Amino acid sequence: MTVVKTRCVVLISGRGSNLEAILKAAGAPDYPAAVVAVVSNKVDALGLQLARDAGIPVAVVPNTDYPDRVAYDRALQTVVDTFEPDLVVLAGFMRILTPEFVAHYENRMINIHPSLLPAFTGLHTHQRALDAGVRFHGCTVHFVTAELDHGPIIVQAAVEVHADDDAHSLGARVLSEEHQIYPTAVRWFAEGRLHIAGQGVRVEGRADPLSAVVAPRLKAIV
Ligand code: GRF
Repeated sequence: MTVVKTRCVVLISGRGSNLEAILKAAGAPDYPAAVVAVVSNKVDALGLQLARDAGIPVAVVPNTDYPDRVAYDRALQTVVDTFEPDLVVLAGFMRILTPEFVAHYENRMINIHPSLLPAFTGLHTHQRALDAGVRFHGCTVHFVTAELDHGPIIVQAAVEVHADDDAHSLGARVLSEEHQIYPTAVRWFAEGRLHIAGQGVRVEGRADPLSAVVAPRLKAIV
């Protein structure tokens, strides 16, 4: 029997460790999603090599080739759409997207952000969390809306902040949670279990109806 997998196009700008986590998960025969292409705005993004090594088509659309954001996003959309994605996965794609681009992929584009949103949108989240003295920090996977780092929350993972943390140590602990929750969120999407209701997302099949799942130990919530 041929199983039709959810077609994911992953957008990256750099290292690609979240891409790697998704590729690893997608290597399991029963994972319901496949990465059909990786697209980057940076020709030297390290993550591109991961995709090449996995035999996945890559495309580079350099933002420096376009006069403005609108022109860039149109070109990007054209390239992304050639791969016929069911889901666009932003994995460290360091661009602010135009409302037109976001609307085109409404309810089928997700992002991972290294904080417990809505706290610490934007950059330098780990240092800002330390500066704010929060006791918990973490990461969030959410549907993308026109407002940066907002949009219905699919899953969150929390980590404790330690007294001796610096941005590096805290960021490393958060990143390892990112690698757990992002493949999980993609799987839930592919299984058709995510239902957006206002600002929240109901995850079908979970006893807990909360839209945002705080998951210090992800295994407990899958
Ligand atoms: C991650 O921290 C992610 O949350 C943020 O950008 C970083 C990308 O890292 N959006 P990587 O390229 O996946 O290693």
